[in-house]
Amino acid sequence: MPSSDARPIPAASPVIGEEEIDAAVRVMRTGRVVQGPEVAAFEAGFAELVGGAHCVAVNSGTSALHLLLLALGIGPGDEVIVPSFSFAASANAVRLVGADVVFADIEPDSFCLDPAAVEAAITPRTAAIMPVHLYGHPAAMDRLMPLAEKHGLAVVEDACQAHAAALDGTPVGAFGSGGTFSFYPTKNMHALEGGMVTTGDAEVARTLRLLRNQGMEQRYANEIVGANMRMTDVSAAVGRVQLTKLDGWTERRRANAAYLDGHITAPNVVTPTVAEGARHVYHQYTVRIRGDRDAAMARLSEAGIGNAVYYPTPIHRLKPYWEPDQKAGRGWELPETERAAAEVVSLPVHPALTAEDLERIVTVVNGLGESL
Ligand SMILES: Cc1ncc(COP(=O)(O)O)c(C=O)c1O
Repeated sequence: MPSSDARPIPAASPVIGEEEIDAAVRVMRTGRVVQGPEVAAFEAGFAELVGGAHCVAVNSGTSALHLLLLALGIGPGDEVIVPSFSFAASANAVRLVGADVVFADIEPDSFCLDPAAVEAAITPRTAAIMPVHLYGHPAAMDRLMPLAEKHGLAVVEDACQAHAAALDGTPVGAFGSGGTFSFYPTKNMHALEGGMVTTGDAEVARTLRLLRNQGMEQRYANEIVGANMRMTDVSAAVGRVQLTKLDGWTERRRANAAYLDGHITAPNVVTPTVAEGARHVYHQYTVRIRGDRDAAMARLSEAGIGNAVYYPTPIHRLKPYWEPDQKAGRGWELPETERAAAEVVSLPVHPALTAEDLERIVTVVNGLGESL
C-alpha cells in the first residue's frame, strides 16, 4: 500500500494552461469581449461534435437547459420526466420554467433513465423527457426516442457531462429536440464557465439566440422577452483551445478507464459497465462499493486518492423537491436511484493521470479488502 505521504491524486484536474491564458489575453486586448467573433467561432467548432447541429453558446449548462426548455415552449401545466439520480440543475431548469418535475428511475448498469420507468411515468400532461447522459455514458436514446415519438414528446438531452459521447455512432446532443453541454472547469472540456445548446431545428435555434440576449437579434429591436445569458468571448476563446484537445483527452480518459476496468479485482468493488454501441467518455469513473462506503472513501482519502460521491442525495430528496411532495402527499418509488446514491464512488480518471497514478489507484482499491 502506498504511504499516505505519496503525492495526492486529485479527483479532477482542470487545465488552464499557457494556451488558454494566451487566448484569453488575446481577446481582452481586442476590447471585444461579449458574444462576438470568438463565440461564433466556438459555436461553429462545437457543431462538428454534434453532427452539424445548430449551436448556441450561453453562460452555463444550467442556462442551456433553462433556455432550451423555454424555446421548446415548456412551462406551467407541463410535466417533464427527469432522472432523480443527477445533478440538481437537471430538475431545477424544469422548475425554473414553471413546469412540474416527474422523476423516473434509472437502469442500474448505465445509471441513466430507464425507458420502461419513463413510459410508466407518461401522463396527458407530459411535454418532454430529459435523459441525462450521466458520468459520460449515453442514455438509452435508441429506446427513448421511439417512446418520445410515439407519445409526441420533446426530448431535452442533458449532455452536460458527456462531450463527444455517442450511441451507435450518433453523438449525444444530436438525438433529441435539443441537447445541452456544460463548460464548467471540471468538465471534460471547459470554457472557465459556460454552456452550449445544440438543436437540429433552425427555428428553435433562432429562439434560443433571442432568449439569451434580451429577445434581440437587432440591437434594441426586442422581439420577445429574454434574459442575459450570453457567453463572453474570453470564455469562448478558452473553449476553442480546449476543443482542439478534447479528442486526445477523451482517448486518455477511455484508456485510463480501460486500465482500471482490467486491474480492479476487489470483489466488493463493481466497475462500470458500458451498454452495447455506447461510447462512454468517462467524465467520471464510478464504481459501486458493496459494503461500507464511508470506510472505503476514508481509506482512499488516507492514501491520497481523490474520490467523491455524485450524488449522495437523489434530487427528489433535496428540500425544494421533497418538501412540496411531502405536503402534497406525493412520493416516488425509485429503488435503483436510492441504491446507486448509497453505493457509488467516483475515482480519478482524468487525462492528467500517469501510469504510476493508475497503478497506485488500483493498489489502494484492491487493498480495500473484504472487510468493507
Ligand atoms: C448533469 C448536469 N446537468 C447540468 C449541469 C449544469 O451545468 P453548469 O454547472 O455549467 O450550470 C451539470 C454541471 O454541473 C451537470 O453535471
